Amino acid sequence: MASLREAGLEAEPIVLVPGEATKTLEQAGRLYDRMLRARLDRGSVVVALGGGVITDLAGFVAATYMRGIRWVAVSTSLLGQVDASVGGKTGVDHPECKNLIGAFHQPCAVLADVGTLRTLPDEELRTGLAEVVKHAVIRDADLFGMLEAQAREILGRDPAVLEDVVARNVQIKADVVMADEREGGLRRILNYGHTVGHALESLAMEASGRLGGAAVTHGRAVALGMMAEAHIARRRGLAPAGVVERQRGLLERFGLPVRLDPPPDPDRCLAIMGHDKKAEAGRLRFVLPEAIGRTTEADDVTDAEVRDAILSLGCV
Ligand SMILES: NC(=O)c1ccc[n+]([C@@H]2O[C@H](COP(=O)([O-])OP(=O)(O)OC[C@H]3O[C@@H](n4cnc5c(N)ncnc54)[C@H](O)[C@@H]3O)[C@@H](O)[C@H]2O)c1
Ligand SMILES: [Zn+2]
Repeated sequence: MASLREAGLEAEPIVLVPGEATKTLEQAGRLYDRMLRARLDRGSVVVALGGGVITDLAGFVAATYMRGIRWVAVSTSLLGQVDASVGGKTGVDHPECKNLIGAFHQPCAVLADVGTLRTLPDEELRTGLAEVVKHAVIRDADLFGMLEAQAREILGRDPAVLEDVVARNVQIKADVVMADEREGGLRRILNYGHTVGHALESLAMEASGRLGGAAVTHGRAVALGMMAEAHIARRRGLAPAGVVERQRGLLERFGLPVRLDPPPDPDRCLAIMGHDKKAEAGRLRFVLPEAIGRTTEADDVTDAEVRDAILSLGCV
């Protein structure tokens, strides 16, 4: 607020309760009321200051208020900086389906100040790191090597190293999205680890609320999802064992889970995966790593392969 004022800009703060439960159409409705009362017009700008929940919600409100006004994403979580604020997807959750209601609406600027990450809880840092590992596995062997070499500095939140990590990750996501903004092809590679990951996340939420020894988070689910999907690649002879092992090593280094004992019920996972909006014409599409930094897509993965991959999470 102080820097906006210093720049001669008039601003009204609206503070929201943190957490996914805030990302609703109801909350968007309340924001429209506030914006109207503050007399925001087509020339006004929404500044979203917070994690992915806030940038998704505020971006959606900006996309729809008066058929779309400008917005700026100021991401304060690692996941927000490397993932949610890049690509222009905005939206809110439906009670029955996450991110069901939304719009593509690019922010006019994205600001990521790694200084804000100093106060981010460890578990939230880990969630962002799961997406960072994903980006490295799908697109960037150099980044993967850098993460291995500088894991300690990253966990210690060394600002220079974090700045490098954030910049490289924004570049990867931006490259993918620029090639395929509306998810017709290339953008799907960002789903690596997420086909199985989403199923594990839903299943854990319905059941104990715990996953891999701690409260379920998106990052934990994605880490396990990447392990299961890399297992499919390995079994198919697409990826050498070293790829799976390096991925396992890096995830462990970042404190993310790589096994689940006992493993979840594979048939329940398959049932959830069939309902996932990313299944096309009843066929599941998987992004499978061939090497660190390179993937291929497969739409012929059998239920038996998926079961085997999920059960593999139980093996030490
Ligand atoms: N639009 C996209 O392309 C995209 C991509 C990935 C995820 N997402 C969405 O992002 C959301 C998850 O984002 P998230 O992980 O940032 O969650 P979040 O926004 O809920 O933030 C996580 C927690 O950290 C707190 N927090 C944020 N910054 C902080 C800081 N600097 N210091 C201390 N605490 C801080 C928040 O208040 C919250 O409690 C989900 O709703 C997901 O659907 C969107
Ligand atoms: Zn994700």
